Amino acid sequence: MLTRHRRSAGAARKHLRDFLDGIPDGGALADVGELVLSELVTNAVQHARVSPGREIAVQFEIVCSRLRIEVHDASSEKPVIRRSTGADDLSGRGLCLVEALSVEWGCAPRPEGIGKIVWALVGPEGGAR
Ligand SMILES: Nc1ncnc2c1ncn2[C@@H]1O[C@H](COP(=O)(O)OP(=O)(O)OP(=O)(O)O)[C@@H](O)[C@H]1O
Ligand SMILES: [Mg+2]
Repeated sequence: MLTRHRRSAGAARKHLRDFLDGIPDGGALADVGELVLSELVTNAVQHARVSPGREIAVQFEIVCSRLRIEVHDASSEKPVIRRSTGADDLSGRGLCLVEALSVEWGCAPRPEGIGKIVWALVGPEGGAR
């Protein structure tokens, strides 16, 4: 569990490194895994506007040699890829990165409570494109 705080992406990356350290060949998933996790946690901190005390959860799982990253937040607002980001816009590209670096990603309601889960599957082979 992480609080909605600007330091939470760094804390999440540390949890991921600790998780992958315990897994054979986990290092092959670390660089891309950290990038994708950073974007998803940053989005939860910046965009999931909910009452104080509502926290963010991160969860990691290895599925068939791939890393499944889950970021749970308490907002039911869904992530939307901004296809129309302008050439000079400073933001609006995080989910494009997630899409490019993941084998697959998506969003689902949190089964155990309010909010949602944004998930991504990262493989040692790189992204979907
Ligand atoms: N966890 C979330 N909860 C609610 N809305 C989200 C969430 N993640 C993303 N969004 C919505 O999807 C949009 C696109 O997200 P994306 O990460 O691509 O861009 P950004 O966060 O606006 O900018 P950048 O990531 O480039 O700094 C966001 O602007 C926001 O409206
Ligand atoms: Mg973002």
